[in-house]
Amino acid sequence: MDTVERAAALRQYAEETSTCTRCALAQGRTQVVFGSGSHDAELMFVGEAPGFHEDQQGVPFVGQAGKLLEKLLAGIGLTRGDVYIANVLKCRPPGNRNPAPEEVAQCSPHLLQQIELIKPKLILAMGRFAAQTLLETSASIASLRGRLHRYAGVPLIVTYHPAYLLRTLEDKAKTWEDLVFAKKTMAGL
Ligand code: URA
Repeated sequence: MDTVERAAALRQYAEETSTCTRCALAQGRTQVVFGSGSHDAELMFVGEAPGFHEDQQGVPFVGQAGKLLEKLLAGIGLTRGDVYIANVLKCRPPGNRNPAPEEVAQCSPHLLQQIELIKPKLILAMGRFAAQTLLETSASIASLRGRLHRYAGVPLIVTYHPAYLLRTLEDKAKTWEDLVFAKKTMAGL
């Protein structure tokens, strides 16, 4: 698939997903937050689920956590437009509660299809929820960081969630390390 075909296929899938009613989150959402960024991205970031601002705007990571993510990206010479950003869940859980297992089960095919279409070289799972869900583990972020895992056949690196970093400044340096590790890994892929 060339870049034009890939862009069209991703747009069409986003269109199909915009009316998804696979789980009960469809009832409370303003809109589906499919994902944003480059359809040709080599690096894909995966967070947890849309929050209030994302649900309003239809774009992932547009709140405070998103601002920090943009700074982290700038640190490795990238902008939002260079990467692809998505969440495990495409709809906002009410009151930002944790995603329920059945919601994840119903929504995972959307993420898998995004990965299949974009074919990133590397996935960055941000935060405990994304990491534990994608890797099907209950291990901590601390124990999962610093090495390569795989999800859907794609190499995956685990790092902290930007919202967590806003509260826990001392782990920011570790996130820089993870991003540098991601950049080095990309260079060798
Ligand atoms: N937190 C997430 O995990 N995803 C978003 O899109 C926003 C905040």
